[in-house]
Amino acid sequence: MKITVVGAGAVGASSAEYIAIKNFASEVVLLDIKENFAEGKAMDLMQTSSLNSFDTKIIGCTNDYSNTKNSDIAVITSGIPRKPGMSREELIGINAKIVKEVSDELIRFSPNVILIIVSNPMDTMTYLAYKTLGIEKRRVIGMGGALDSARFKYRISEALSCPSSDISAMVIGAHSDKGMVPLTRLATRNSIPINQMLSHETIEKIRHETKVGGATLTSMLGTSAWYAPGAAVSSIVHAIACDQRKIFPCSVFLDGEYGLSDIAIGVPVVLGKNGIERICEIELDKIEKNMLSESASGVNKTNEILKEMKII
Ligand code: LAC
Repeated sequence: MKITVVGAGAVGASSAEYIAIKNFASEVVLLDIKENFAEGKAMDLMQTSSLNSFDTKIIGCTNDYSNTKNSDIAVITSGIPRKPGMSREELIGINAKIVKEVSDELIRFSPNVILIIVSNPMDTMTYLAYKTLGIEKRRVIGMGGALDSARFKYRISEALSCPSSDISAMVIGAHSDKGMVPLTRLATRNSIPINQMLSHETIEKIRHETKVGGATLTSMLGTSAWYAPGAAVSSIVHAIACDQRKIFPCSVFLDGEYGLSDIAIGVPVVLGKNGIERICEIELDKIEKNMLSESASGVNKTNEILKEMKII
């Protein structure tokens, strides 16, 4: 199993590290445009292999896509991260061109690759890749919902003073501060609904903290977060590489599911060896449906910019 990670910045390197530590891939190729940067990160990570007991070979390279040839899965983290006070949507001008170039190169060397999109604005970058590459929608997967759900579980576990492994919860909708839809109604601690254990005010606080989860870290760190994004990437890659058929909310191109079309947005999907094996259409209540539809309007607005840029 060969996995490429494009972008050796904090999120890319963290993704490569977690993929390697989980020890399910034979090879990880880390590629960056900055001379010798990915090579350095790869060497540093390889020097952890005896300490962290993994056999995955990590190779770094500077912008030479021939090294990525015949990758099974490729992760696109390229582009600029947001700075404090910025929205993910503000990155579109620079990141759209980069994601377009990177995805074209990846497909050229690996025509059957499954793409995981991390670059922001993530739902719009997923839409861009799907619309321009002409490949099956099962092979273009936006990572945001897996990350946002992990942040949601963290917030719930803090409120309940329990480990997050006890929590089952999901965030659907866009990977944006306004557009995230944390499904508080369906969140449970070991099958007990959280609304039987937490007050309405606490649940609303959790909802808010989840939605601004990335922005909170950006203001603390001066740049966007990397550990949880890297862990979310590695969990998605693991599910596909090992045909786990686990459910994650991921951004996927919709053709009428949830009443939405011509958009990529976060909904629960089954991940397996073919990428998206199935989109799960769960029943939402009226409020959740409205939130998802508002979230989709926001994504559509951002997608319009791609048309104005004449990139799609
Ligand atoms: C975040 C970035 C990766 O939410 O979008 O941390």
